[in-house]
Amino acid sequence: MAPDTPGRETQETLSNLLQENRRFEPPAELASAANITADAYDEAAADRIGFWERAAERLTWGRRWDTALEWNAPFAKWFVGGTLNVAYNCVDRHVEAGRGDKVAYHWEGEPDGDTRTLTYSDLLREVSKAANALAELGVGKGDRVAIYMPMIPELPIAMLACARIGAIHSVVFGGFSATALSGRIQDADAKLVITADGGYRRGAPSALKPTVDEAVAECPGVEHVLVVRRTGEKVSESGKDVWWHDLVDRQSDRHEAVPHDAEDPLYILYTSGTTGKPKGILHTTGGYLTQAAWTHDVVFDLKPDTDIYWCTADIGWVTGHSYIVYGPLANGATSVIYEGTPDTPHRGRFWEIVQKYGVTILYTAPTAIRTFMKWGDDIPAKYDMSSLRVLGSVGEPINPEAYVWYREHIGGSRCPVVDTWWQTETGAIMISPLPGVTAAKPGAAMRPLPGIVADVVDDQGNPVPDGGGGFLVVREPWPSMLRGIWGDEKRYTDTYWSRFEGMYFPGDGAKKDDDGDLWLLGRVDDVMLVSGHNISTTEVESALVSHPKVAEAAVVGATDPITGQAIVAFTILRGGAEESPDIAKELRDHVAKALGPIAKPRQILVVPELPKTRSGKIMRRLLRDVAENRSIGDVTTLADSAVMDLISAKLPSAASDD
Ligand code: WT7
Repeated sequence: MAPDTPGRETQETLSNLLQENRRFEPPAELASAANITADAYDEAAADRIGFWERAAERLTWGRRWDTALEWNAPFAKWFVGGTLNVAYNCVDRHVEAGRGDKVAYHWEGEPDGDTRTLTYSDLLREVSKAANALAELGVGKGDRVAIYMPMIPELPIAMLACARIGAIHSVVFGGFSATALSGRIQDADAKLVITADGGYRRGAPSALKPTVDEAVAECPGVEHVLVVRRTGEKVSESGKDVWWHDLVDRQSDRHEAVPHDAEDPLYILYTSGTTGKPKGILHTTGGYLTQAAWTHDVVFDLKPDTDIYWCTADIGWVTGHSYIVYGPLANGATSVIYEGTPDTPHRGRFWEIVQKYGVTILYTAPTAIRTFMKWGDDIPAKYDMSSLRVLGSVGEPINPEAYVWYREHIGGSRCPVVDTWWQTETGAIMISPLPGVTAAKPGAAMRPLPGIVADVVDDQGNPVPDGGGGFLVVREPWPSMLRGIWGDEKRYTDTYWSRFEGMYFPGDGAKKDDDGDLWLLGRVDDVMLVSGHNISTTEVESALVSHPKVAEAAVVGATDPITGQAIVAFTILRGGAEESPDIAKELRDHVAKALGPIAKPRQILVVPELPKTRSGKIMRRLLRDVAENRSIGDVTTLADSAVMDLISAKLPSAASDD
């Protein structure tokens, strides 16, 4: 792919500093029975559209499509003329095929012993009743339904009920404020809100209904609020409220699923990115389900008859939509859903769940992995996790050291780790190793999946050669791509299709290593410009995390009179590691050794926590405020607003220049 570009000055777009030589071959047993082989790359390259058509054949269609792809850049239509019902594909067809007694969800509430098991037959009855209930509330095809719920079975049931009748759901993460919720309800003009009295978090009931009441007061378009009783706490009832158990329980458990058009909307999901007004990302039906199901099958090597699959994300994020609800159910998988936090009632809760259900595939986020590293190796060591066979990571670049820790301490050094790159906008996994095919490198997402054409380009849009860094782009449309931003076509074109002619720009930096494999380097907004070099925060963070005392690191560029920007690092130490007086110097030297003197941080602070969004992404914007001695900006999207006080309190000890 690296073209010869004579005459073009070799001007670096993004430095490539980190060298990583470890390789992990796929386990022989897994490779020999893998759901996909290396041939798929060639097959897809030879006939990309035909490749996706074969992937679409795994679904049950009401009517087969006439045209696989209609592409009027940047607007794609997939499987045009085809019809299907997403809920039928996720539920009914498994029951019709005689797999009704198979468990769809093992649900584990946060309070100890609070569990539910739903088979595919159970799910069919519950989804049918909920679909009938929606119809009784006057919700029909094309109407928008806002869903604001804890991680309880009624959440996927509500989503599937919407999908079944062709209503468009907009799930809003249960940790968002009343203002965030009302803004999203209004933007989509939802007529129904589905919620619960509350859920359990950190060992106590956590109310949701008061937030909904506050939000709905600002939303005259909302006709009804459908409320699941979960915690039993007292709620104030308004004329719009309907209890789920009063309405849904009395419905018929039969409901005929009629097929919808392949391009009918399935859902809106708001993403704010790091700044700006949230964008309502729109996904449709046939292409979305095709790629969600196919990637879930091949990236995790899912064997639906024997695997117990657990994705620890919240369903309020796209990871939960595609890899707790739509992908796994379309594939007839058995999944675990956990309601609560990983440290309730103790820090071994995740591993206890793995042991209890015999989880074989685990999909989680780097932020969680680094937290487990910080808590110490001894905690997972107490549990039998020999059932695990494939591990996945998503949400941020995974630092090589966190990857290796995950592999060793969770995967017993036998499970492949797949680092999956994608976004709310892409709908499904785009770049990832294949567990039975790829000799994986710790920290690399490796290659675009078969059927996906991605590349790394410089600021002129020219492909960078192997060994170079730049901007990640996607060159060809893919089935689960967003179809637009709800109510704002222009913003769709401006945000994703205007930076590089004819290419989708996700906003991420990336590099190609000497083998042409891809490494994600974080958001380009976070790139630091130090003495004329563009340095990615991810590489410096990974170098810090590779020091045995460091569990987690966040790096920002702060204005510097000499170098333009200087690197300032915030670090969290591993469980057991001591904060010695010369730790800053030790870490600075370590980074200089790993990446070269150019990447040596000016300043290193040891902090107890890092500011993160509710989905676990580090908010570097706030750390830049600290590093540049500014008053700290908008903290409303922080998961824990007290964190910034803890960090600021560490400032006097920050001077670490030598
Ligand atoms: C952004 C998308 C994809 C579902 C969860 C997040 C970052 C995601 C990786 C990865 C490096 C990653 C990117 C991307 N990201 N996965 N494996 N390696 N970065 O969805 O909230 O839409 O965030 O998360 O920056 O653009 P999202």
